[in-house]
Amino acid sequence: MRGLVLAGIEDVRYRTGLPDAVVVQPTDAVVRVTAAGLCGSDLHPYLGREPVRWGVVPGHEVVGEVVAVGTEVTTVEVGDRVLSPFTTSCGHCGPCRRGLSARCVSGRLLGWGAPDAPLEDALHGGQAELVRVPLADGTLVVVPDGVDDATAVLLCDNLPTGWYAVERAGVAAGTTVAVVGLGAVGLCAVSAAFALGAATVHAFDPVAARRERAAALGATAADPSEAAATDGLRVDAVVEAAGPAPAQRFAAGLAAPGGTLSVIAVQTDEAFAVPPVLAYDRNLTIRTGRAPVRSLLDRLLPRVLAGELVAPTRVVVTDPAVPLEDGPATYARFAAREGGLVKAILRP
Ligand SMILES: NC(=O)c1ccc[n+]([C@@H]2O[C@H](COP(=O)([O-])OP(=O)(O)OC[C@H]3O[C@@H](n4cnc5c(N)ncnc54)[C@H](O)[C@@H]3O)[C@@H](O)[C@H]2O)c1
Ligand SMILES: [Zn+2]
Ligand SMILES: [Zn+2]
Repeated sequence: MRGLVLAGIEDVRYRTGLPDAVVVQPTDAVVRVTAAGLCGSDLHPYLGREPVRWGVVPGHEVVGEVVAVGTEVTTVEVGDRVLSPFTTSCGHCGPCRRGLSARCVSGRLLGWGAPDAPLEDALHGGQAELVRVPLADGTLVVVPDGVDDATAVLLCDNLPTGWYAVERAGVAAGTTVAVVGLGAVGLCAVSAAFALGAATVHAFDPVAARRERAAALGATAADPSEAAATDGLRVDAVVEAAGPAPAQRFAAGLAAPGGTLSVIAVQTDEAFAVPPVLAYDRNLTIRTGRAPVRSLLDRLLPRVLAGELVAPTRVVVTDPAVPLEDGPATYARFAAREGGLVKAILRP
């Protein structure tokens, strides 16, 4: 099959002749990928911030058609149009039953291999023609009619993740919210905040083109380095969807006494960037963690279909149909935040 491979730092390669993904376990499904998202999380290994096994097909946001199932799979069949959350999940262990599918005891991250494990132990991802999805029954979701591929890609990760971030920040009707970092996750958080009834959303990013997108969603957008934009601003609910330590420190400073800082950016550091004295002085609650997308979709898909949560597909997905061959160049553009690229979708 054709696919991308992460060969090293800033080294994504387009390859033909990769071994086809096949059913290995009776609980697997194989999906022919029609749309695969490129995510800020793909940049951590790409830029060397997160150690991984090289030689693995990246990609954890997968939409496509089921082309094979193992003998024990019962909830999807060949021909179904499905999406896969970015982690697999069994659906019946303790964490899965508690709504924490991202911490399933047998769950795995698509498109990831441990740096010190053999290549066979890696789970190849969806930036390829075919992908093997383990635990298909507890993982895959049939895409409802009327949900387009780009929106389905947002449902694999960014939209539920943005929702999780604002929900954990305590956003409710009338809340004033701040969102720091306006990539696909931050922009989805802006949409989710309004869907939950937020009165005002203050949105921060150093990149002007990304601020304009947040403004298009109704947020009041500013450059975090502009003192006037933040002077005296104190809000009850802060979402940090940026990643770098200075962004986390900045986000904490926006919290009102008794407020909540919801850190949704992936954490790779040993310590929080929030000074304990600040956390103490603000009686701050800090929440963080991986979004349990499969669990969240049980609640969010009905809201999306009812129009209560509008997926910000047109605002977020800037590059909706990138050929697989252009994957390496698109990774480079994304990492450099060039050409207004916020969210690219590969079309194998
Ligand atoms: N917790 C989860 O389950 C989960 C799921 C998906 C993604 N993520 C993480 O969420 C984060 C965002 O993902 P994304 O796809 O939107 O990434 P992205 O890289 O496209 O966006 C990050 C944004 O943060 C901005 N930024 C950097 N420094 C800043 C600062 N000091 N102040 C304000 N903004 C700043 C950047 O300009 C950029 O627009 C990443 O860390 C990603 O790995 C977490
Ligand atoms: Zn993602
Ligand atoms: Zn489980």
